[in-house]
Amino acid sequence: LELDWDINNSSKKHYPFYMEKEISEQPEVIEKTIRSRIKDGLPDFSADGVDDSIFTECENITVIACGTAMHAGLIGKHLIEKACAVPVNVYMASEYMYCDPIVSDKTLVICVSQSGETIDTLEALKYAKSKGAKTLSIVNVKGSSIAMTSDNVIYTNAGPEIAVASTKAYTTQVAVFYLITAKTALLRGCFNEDETKSFVNELEKIPQAVDDILQRKDEIHHLSQSLLTAEHTFMIGRGLDYPALLEASLKLKEISYIHSEAFASGELKHGTIALIIKKTPVIALLTQEKLMSKQISNIREVESRGATVISFVKDGLQTKDINPDFILPNLNDDFMAIPAVVAMQLLAYYVSADKGLDVDKPRNLAKVVTVE
Ligand code: G6P
Repeated sequence: LELDWDINNSSKKHYPFYMEKEISEQPEVIEKTIRSRIKDGLPDFSADGVDDSIFTECENITVIACGTAMHAGLIGKHLIEKACAVPVNVYMASEYMYCDPIVSDKTLVICVSQSGETIDTLEALKYAKSKGAKTLSIVNVKGSSIAMTSDNVIYTNAGPEIAVASTKAYTTQVAVFYLITAKTALLRGCFNEDETKSFVNELEKIPQAVDDILQRKDEIHHLSQSLLTAEHTFMIGRGLDYPALLEASLKLKEISYIHSEAFASGELKHGTIALIIKKTPVIALLTQEKLMSKQISNIREVESRGATVISFVKDGLQTKDINPDFILPNLNDDFMAIPAVVAMQLLAYYVSADKGLDVDKPRNLAKVVTVE
């Protein structure tokens, strides 16, 4: 068992809460997670001992995880299906083996877990192995049960995550999914070498983009004030913005106790729009150029019911139709999930801290869940 965590990094330093410290560490830990896995501009898992064949021999991929880790898997699904044309199913670990999943030796099962000890994920992993699936886990804690049970492991280099609400573990898990996407696309001939290098090059810009958001955290602190008295919020986005908002919404719920639901914007009108009344806060995320006009029309729908919209817009996508409350850095659309979620982590953090809540230890929640 190998541990490379410096225990001194586990103190809060000058931060009031671990969560703020962990949010602020993200440029560094994302960089650390990707740096050792890029060789000559291409993804490389040889130091992890991961055999390329697991990415080429599978006919389908199943991601299994819980909570925040499952949300990382939903981003992974979006990336892998788009770049590699391999079907990817994402399962909540607690549901996986009870819904007769389609799994065989042609399935690559990817388990995602910060702790590596979540019992539902571990049991699902064992089940998939018993059905002959090849297994790969994305885990933060070295030597943990999921890591030891899995055929292959890619460790996130997030370091110890103390706050119950996961932040840096999530963004490093998503960073690994970018690498897996690049590797799979290259090996399966979906990307040529130049396309793979330019994908990896965009990934390498993420730490700087996250740092840019951290430098402007006061702007997000200011925006958070309008949520302090809210009881309900909705978050709307389309395409890749939707799974990013599922994570954003979970962050707000778990640490601020504000009821929040994320919706694929086009789906809101099929029922839930009935809940939008005067001054309901709606957080809108707009980072996907091809979906801008549709997303703006969905924003108009909620505004016409009285919603107060707070918009997070990728730089370059602001138009006369949308006046952003916060401008996100400009990366290729497929790479916006991490910067967008970091902005939302800060939003949730400030709401919780300013409400005087125990940000690091929200009620009823545990960092590691070892009961099924
Ligand atoms: C708990 C934590 C969540 C976490 C989930 C999965 O519910 O409170 O923050 O996302 O477990 O944990 P894992 O360690 O498997 O990523």
